[in-house]
Amino acid sequence: MIKPDAVAAGNTGAISKMIEEAGFRIVAMKKTKLSAELAGQFYEIHKERPFYGELCKYMSSGPIVPMILEKENAVEDFRKLIGATDPKKAAPGTIRALFAKSIDANAIHGSDSDANAEIEGNFFFSQFERL
Ligand code: RTP
Ligand code: MG
Repeated sequence: MIKPDAVAAGNTGAISKMIEEAGFRIVAMKKTKLSAELAGQFYEIHKERPFYGELCKYMSSGPIVPMILEKENAVEDFRKLIGATDPKKAAPGTIRALFAKSIDANAIHGSDSDANAEIEGNFFFSQFERL
């Protein structure tokens, strides 16, 4: 998911290009906006964390671009491509090193397991075809 800061900054195209060049196939993609309630549902796993309220507020602050991506070893490879959560710690050349503004406005989200990728894909796309 391309987060509100990166969409607002006009980086959707540049980030999608990096994703494709890294060997990911875009299976589904759209522009949408989360309500605070839906953002809360999406990040429910972080409900007890101190940053949960800020995170939900931020993730509902503007349009986002969720995608379903396909690749061998996708979850691990995508996390390498996006870099560390805090852009100050993200490796050079990663999406967060290039585009993130802060630990909150960190440009992009990646699923952390195959099981969560399936849940998160279904959260955003009620139907899609692997074309
Ligand atoms: P994401 O889920 O968005 O891909 O990010 P991530 O796996 O790298 O990090 P995660 O631990 O899942 O945290 C989710 C998002 O919450 C914000 N966060 N803030 N202030 C903090 O210490 C803190 N820690 C995490 C970040 O925006 C992070 O992307
Ligand atoms: Mg995470």
